[in-house]
Amino acid sequence: MPTIQTQAAWAERARAVLPGGGFGNFDAETFIRDGQGSRVRDENGKAYVDLLIGSGPMLLGHGHPEVMEAIAEQLPKGMTFFANNARGVELAEDIVAAVPCAEQVRFVSSGGEADMYAIRLARAFTGRDKIVKFEGGYHGMSAEAQMSLAPSKLANFPQAVPDSAGIPDSVRSEMLIAPFNDAAYIRSLLAEYGAQVAAIIVEPLQRIIPPEPGFLQLLRAECDRYGIQD
Ligand SMILES: Cc1ncc(COP(=O)(O)O)c(C=O)c1O
Repeated sequence: MPTIQTQAAWAERARAVLPGGGFGNFDAETFIRDGQGSRVRDENGKAYVDLLIGSGPMLLGHGHPEVMEAIAEQLPKGMTFFANNARGVELAEDIVAAVPCAEQVRFVSSGGEADMYAIRLARAFTGRDKIVKFEGGYHGMSAEAQMSLAPSKLANFPQAVPDSAGIPDSVRSEMLIAPFNDAAYIRSLLAEYGAQVAAIIVEPLQRIIPPEPGFLQLLRAECDRYGIQD
């Protein structure tokens, strides 16, 4: 039987081996032991309704029977191959069928990585370097994404404020930061910089802020007008 440890004991162990004593995005004193359906339990036995859902991927809840069955069927046949495999092709086909704008799929490990590739692809395709991002929008941990998420100092739009140390000024200077939901601002920003902009990166629902009616459609139209990727 493994020794049962309290959260305080795990926190002490974590501080020794994890920077900041945690995985980086959540309260470092809470340690989830297990989960079933919509509930999780911490190492002290306290139960919670899990609104984090693994930051997204546990959308069907913990231990969903169909997911467990599919995993149990595949596990004895091997888990990851790096090489192409039939299940991956089937998944890509399902995604292309389900997502109207998806013609092909590149699998990556995280949302941040996907956004990083999307930005690089837009730059390669347009031959332009500037990226428009909205203040407060979250797009992962890449250098471009770590701009004006939660700016630590005031700056005039469209100046970007890095959220992390260690990002070269050359990255900051290629980012244009705009206020979310401000149609007039985005129009005037693109009137000035539109021909230099490779992409606008936006969360359709920015954290908990819904888009104003017509705002996303305006971005689409402005992208078309200036040959920008979105
Ligand atoms: C809109 C958005 N983009 C990108 C990311 C980054 O995804 P990941 O944590 O898988 O890198 C997140 C994660 O919460 C997100 O909400």
